[in-house]
Parts: sequence; C-alpha cells; structure tokens
Amino acid sequence: MKQISTIFFAVLLMACNNKPAEIDIDSALHYCITQANKTLKTLPADAAQIPRSIANGKTDWRFVGYRDWTCGFWPGILWYAYEYSNDEALKRSAQRYSRALFPLVDSAAIDHDLGFQVFTSIGNGYRLTHDTLYRTVLLRAADTLGKLFNPKVGTILSWPRKVPGVDWPLRHNTIMDNMINLELLFWAAQHGGNKQLYDIAVKHAETTMQNHFRPDYTSYHVVVYDTATGKKIKGITHQGYSDSSMWARGQSWAIYGFAMVYRETKDPRFLDFAQKVADVYLNKLPDDLIPYWDFNAPGIPNAPRDASAAAVTASALLELSTLVTDTAKMKMYLKKAVHMLKSLSSPAYESRQVNNAFLLHSTGHKPNGGEIDASIIYADYYFIEALLRLKKLKEGKHI
Ligand code: GLY
Repeated sequence: MKQISTIFFAVLLMACNNKPAEIDIDSALHYCITQANKTLKTLPADAAQIPRSIANGKTDWRFVGYRDWTCGFWPGILWYAYEYSNDEALKRSAQRYSRALFPLVDSAAIDHDLGFQVFTSIGNGYRLTHDTLYRTVLLRAADTLGKLFNPKVGTILSWPRKVPGVDWPLRHNTIMDNMINLELLFWAAQHGGNKQLYDIAVKHAETTMQNHFRPDYTSYHVVVYDTATGKKIKGITHQGYSDSSMWARGQSWAIYGFAMVYRETKDPRFLDFAQKVADVYLNKLPDDLIPYWDFNAPGIPNAPRDASAAAVTASALLELSTLVTDTAKMKMYLKKAVHMLKSLSSPAYESRQVNNAFLLHSTGHKPNGGEIDASIIYADYYFIEALLRLKKLKEGKHI
C-alpha cells in the first residue's frame, strides 16, 4: 500500500505544475556534503566536541558535549550525508560521533531530549547499518525515556530538573518539542522493546492534542500539570514571545510530530490534527515561507527569522503529503515544502559564503538571548533530511 502510494506520488510530483526542478536537489545535497566535510576537517579526533551553532557573523562552531540536547544532530547529518554519497569516510565519522553518545543511556540527568539525542544519531545509524549494538542502545534509551511518563497526566515529563527563571519548577511540565521523542518509543515497541512504550507514545500524543493547543490550533510551548492529579494548570511559553503567541519552532515540532504519530498509528485523528496544525502555520507565513522566530513577534518584518522551523516543517510536509488522501492537499503540502527548500537553498539562507554550516538565520532561544539569527545544527539536520525525502519521493521510494 505504501509502495503504491509512493509510486503514485512520484508520478504526481513529476506531473505537478510546481516542478521540483525549481530546486536542484542533487546540487543542494552536494552542497551539504561539501560543508559537512569542511566542518569535519576542523574537528578534533576524539568526537568529544560536537558542533552546535555558529553565531551571526562568526565562522567558528560552538561545541557541546554528549549531554547537550542537540548532540545527536551532527552524527545524524553525517549519517544522511553517508546515505546520499556512500562515502565510507563519512560513515566512519558518523559511527565515531554516534558511539560518543552511548554514555547517554546511563546518564543520571535524563530528560525527554534523550529521544532527540539518540534517534537522530544512533537511530539513523541502525536504519543504515543494522548494527545490533545500536539496537541495544536504542532499546535501553527508550526504556529510560518511558520512565518519565506520568500516567496521571498522560504525558512524559519533559524537564525533570529546575529550569532557571521560571515559576513552575518541579511541577509536571510537557513541552511541544517532546512530540519528536515519541518516534523512539514507537520504534522500540516495534523492534523487540517493551510494547507498553507504544501505549505511552499514543497517550502522550492524545493528551498533547487535548491540552497543548488553542481553539485556532496554535500551540503553547509548555503545559504545566498538577503532578499528583494530572490536571492541566496552564499553558505558557519558555522560548516563544508570549504565552498567547505561536512560537515558530514549537508549531513546526507539532506538525512533524503529529504527522509521524499518524504514520506510526494510522489513527485518522492524528492525520486530521497534523493538517490543522500545519494549515494554521502555512496561512500565516511571509512570502518566502521562512517564519519569523515567533508568529506574533514584535518588530515584524524586521524580527529575526527561524530557518530551523522552516527546515523542520519542510521535512514534515513532505511526509504529510504522502499521508493525506486528498490530492489537492497532497499537492499543496508538496508545493509548500519545495518552496521552503528553495528559499533555504537561496543565497539569502545558505551559508556557503559565511561559514561551514548549511544554513543561516535560525533562532534558538530569543527570550534568553541565545543563538539569535545564527547557524544552528538542527536546522542543517532537518534541511538535509528534507532534501533526501524529496529526492526519494521523486524516485518513487519510501521516505
Ligand atoms: N528543544 C528545544 C528547541 O526546539 O529549541
């Protein structure tokens, strides 16, 4: 069924007026590989320093260690670069950086980011190599992540630690980003892990669908719950502009997350919801389809953009376009995704003249002044993922 739909999709893609030839996918992927190789040449051999971001106007990567929430994206990029190029040197680098993350599964400071950390890196490594050691690590990480589930609330505790400067520390909190980590739980339940992880992932998605959105389907970044009773206390922001605004990357996590949950469950409620959260985002974008860091940010049109949200959304829309049954919506999501990738591949967003990342103009944490209008590793990860997805769709392959 999936095969039939992807072949149909490839034909549609070629017939579509919005020709994918508008973006040269191979040269965009070659560009990514060239930039990744340039970064690799600057890195120390021990894989202990992992590239995270490059400040606006600078050329040097800021490095982080394996505990940082972004640590999986660099090895994930290397796996995608290897997948496209078959370059064994890239594979060896991907293996080296993936292995450097193994200690995470024994980390005492676990939070929901464990899914981001291991699935983008070791998850891609397992997909491409079937290395049983990767499988063991992933299953252990999934069990650890599952321990943060609070059955009273029906969600995973996102930050089981004190977050400086906020008035809700140590309550049960769940952030929209947490939707992405459910993919590790679905994977584990299907690959010999604890089957209850599937139920946890579904329950988390259901509870999030119920509590994390306003009537217009824009999302809160954080929902705070009463740990004991499970009752919702309030929806607030942490990285967005205000409690009532639509933080761009939060909404992009929602689009990506609900499309993925539908792929894993085939429950039509999630497909319907993924479209609703995608449509409100698409309807409010500027002409180049790269959002401001928050859709309600002050200073628009001079507010910083967030290329990372665009990259996440482009990848999510490519998946969503293969899941919807309505041909008009399929074409619309595809057209928007290609347009986003075209904008990101333009001189305005590509960083080839500036630094060794793939993209410029992402915003990490505007309220605390962190990584504003910067090159950020997760933008690059979802950019190369989206390019590969588009290439596979064009070739009638699964994504
Ligand atoms: N997970 C944190 C972020 O999206 O910035």
